[in-house]
Amino acid sequence: MFISEKAPAKINLTLDVLYKRSDQYHEVEMVMTTVDLADRLEFVLTEDGSITVVSENRFVPSDERNLAYRAAKLLQERYQVTRGVRIYIEKQIPVAAGLAGGSSDAAATLRGLNRLWNLGIETEELSLLGSEIGSDVSFCIYNSTAIANGRGEKITELPPPPTCWVVLAKPSQGVATPSVFQSLQLDHVLHPDTQGMVDSIKRGDYQGICERLGNVLESVTLPNHPQVQQIKKLMRHSGADAVLMSGSGPTVFGLVQQEKKAERIYNSLRGFCEQVYVVRMLGESTALE
Ligand code: C5P
Repeated sequence: MFISEKAPAKINLTLDVLYKRSDQYHEVEMVMTTVDLADRLEFVLTEDGSITVVSENRFVPSDERNLAYRAAKLLQERYQVTRGVRIYIEKQIPVAAGLAGGSSDAAATLRGLNRLWNLGIETEELSLLGSEIGSDVSFCIYNSTAIANGRGEKITELPPPPTCWVVLAKPSQGVATPSVFQSLQLDHVLHPDTQGMVDSIKRGDYQGICERLGNVLESVTLPNHPQVQQIKKLMRHSGADAVLMSGSGPTVFGLVQQEKKAERIYNSLRGFCEQVYVVRMLGESTALE
């Protein structure tokens, strides 16, 4: 018996850091949304209790370093499940990119195994479990648009934004999230207008969304990665309505309403940047296939 789940990427429309907490985390406020670039996971039931992860992508580990593996282990232990699973991960989302690829795989594993192992866990409970694996996993349980608070695990869903095209460009280097947070100097950052972003989404105001994109972590990643700055510039010059780095980076995304414009940006970035994608924001009229 097997089942499959899609694990889509997320982008941050805003990412604000409010303060450094006394644990190893920062208190954040982020508006996140889902795009239709997705990994695909397949779950095959095993009766001997073993958990294995397999992927053709050489950057995907098959042990505890893999968040999907950790998700399966957590569910198995917490709910005293005696059966196991073989997880196949077909990777589409670039790794260490600021697109929550690993977190989304973990969330898809929680959803998938909830079905495969017949556990009957409610979505909110799955989201809470997800937070034990990583700060972005809670959001990824929902595959929607939401505001995330706390260290990222407190999720309040928002209506879907007006659909638009999203060009994603990932420079060759990866970025380590902990070191980006560690280097953040909060006294020097320009905080995004989170409430304005939420209101724009609720109004279905594409222009308002574009005007309010903001990410405080750009203040750390941009100076250290000139290529990210260059991609932002190139995207703007080739017609993107708004441009931002997602998460701790280094992926940059540009928003446009017309597919032709998205193609133009895609063409101007290819050759300059290894991985470029044209995807859609999951809005009212678009669903994850
Ligand atoms: O939760 P996750 O394991 O994805 O976080 C990775 C690292 O990123 C944390 O160990 C911490 O250094 C940093 N982080 C943070 N504040 C957050 C989320 C992550 O400082 N809200």
